[in-house]
Amino acid sequence: MRGVKGTLGYSDQAAQLQPRYDQASFEDMHALIMHVLPTSPSTVMDIGAGTGRDAAYLAGQGHETVAVEPTDEFRTPASARYPHIEWIDDALPKLEKLEGRIGQFDLIMATAMWMHLNEQERPLAMSTVATLLKPRGLLVLSLRHGPIPEGRLMFDVSAAETIELAKREGFENLVEAVRPSIGEINRKAGITWSHLAFCKVSA
Ligand SMILES: C[S@@+](CC[C@H](N)C(=O)[O-])C[C@H]1O[C@@H](n2cnc3c(N)ncnc32)[C@H](O)[C@@H]1O
Repeated sequence: MRGVKGTLGYSDQAAQLQPRYDQASFEDMHALIMHVLPTSPSTVMDIGAGTGRDAAYLAGQGHETVAVEPTDEFRTPASARYPHIEWIDDALPKLEKLEGRIGQFDLIMATAMWMHLNEQERPLAMSTVATLLKPRGLLVLSLRHGPIPEGRLMFDVSAAETIELAKREGFENLVEAVRPSIGEINRKAGITWSHLAFCKVSA
């Protein structure tokens, strides 16, 4: 998808990033929120799905899985590798191609992507994900903190701001935790991550 500012730098580096992203397991990446994930077959969406590592895990758990990824160089090989997942070329804050799916998702993951949204986009994005979730649906986010890689567009988004935006959209905060990056390169560079999970408690 053209014109998505947050994808800056990914197209050129997709081939180098793919093995790095796929090295980590879902369980390690999401250890701090694993306990809130649905245990029975559900309808789930991964936004900014990258190489499809997380979407493939979720599909493997029996969930009907949608993966949204605007960078062609990630989405095209991932959709060939995981054809059982529905791949959509779209982006937050609007997710225009999902407008017909209001209230259909039990779980939305927007992990390692929310910090690509600017100050104007983040409230809109929170409203979009709230609209797409069922009542009692879950939202899982992670936020990167630390030096920004050259050539990328990222913002230092705080957990406090994200929790406040989520509350305005009817979410209850279930998990708020911070830990160093599990990837060696990023850990050595001083990168930490906020891990957040929310439940949609009111419309
Ligand atoms: C750091 S990667 C994370 C990929 C994957 N979630 C993971 O954890 O391995 C960030 C991803 O967000 C995507 N992205 C950037 N801006 C986006 C936006 N506005 N909407 C959806 N995805 C976006 C990028 O194309 C990239 O694939």
